[in-house]
Amino acid sequence: MQTDTQAVLSWRIEDIDLSRIDRSCAAINEDLLLLLCAASFIESGSDLYTSNLSTFFDGDQEVFGWLNQHWEHEELQHGRALKAYINYVWPEFDWNLAFERFFDEYSKTCSIEGLEKTRALEMVARCVVETGTATLYRAINEFSDELVLREITNNICTDEVRHYKYFFRFFKKYNQIEDNSRFTVLGALIRRMKEIKNEDSEIALRHVLSVRYSPKACNSTYMQEKAARVNGLVRTHMSADMFVKMLLKPLNLPSKIQRGVHHSLIKITQHVFFR
Ligand SMILES: [Fe+2]
Ligand SMILES: [Fe+2]
Repeated sequence: MQTDTQAVLSWRIEDIDLSRIDRSCAAINEDLLLLLCAASFIESGSDLYTSNLSTFFDGDQEVFGWLNQHWEHEELQHGRALKAYINYVWPEFDWNLAFERFFDEYSKTCSIEGLEKTRALEMVARCVVETGTATLYRAINEFSDELVLREITNNICTDEVRHYKYFFRFFKKYNQIEDNSRFTVLGALIRRMKEIKNEDSEIALRHVLSVRYSPKACNSTYMQEKAARVNGLVRTHMSADMFVKMLLKPLNLPSKIQRGVHHSLIKITQHVFFR
């Protein structure tokens, strides 16, 4: 593993003066902080994913090199940046304890067996994940009133869009060999979308909530209400238009068809994915 991260990161959380955070402005939006904390857990588990992907793409020096020298460091920095922000606003919150519990459960779901069957389709799955994160951080950047959070999420969003572009390029490289049909690519898109919605974020948020509201952790109605509020925040602010545009690219639809299905897909996405 490369240790000199300064050489590969386009920005550094250490260069952002966290004392500029408007704590009262940030603390007022508890649901947003819960969402940021859940996101920080998934980002901080990226080294496990890098390891799985590196095994899956063994022999491809271009992909292996980019994953290990750039992608992993950038994703881990996203986790560190969000953790630092949470720690500043919620000094009493035991991030390490909640993350430990999260990772114990999450790591069991994150195996090589869970990757797609082929390299091109795994790249489609990675595009879905980067689409989700890019859209999420763009939304937070646009609706947050706190300037330091806006700066951090702008940096992260830029990274996520660049990640998407790399994974999309790698998808095209492998799909030239595999020649998957649009139907097959669509299947990979849908499978990964379901996982994002149902698994990763649910596990992360559950562990955030159980530590943040530990006295009420056994009250399932209370916890479900809290989770619903956070998910509502995502649904209200994420751009379905940006999400669909990025998702459609691997399908390489003729522009006429793309224009025809775009609006319908936005509606379907809003109802199904951002439900
Ligand atoms: Fe990230
Ligand atoms: Fe990313």
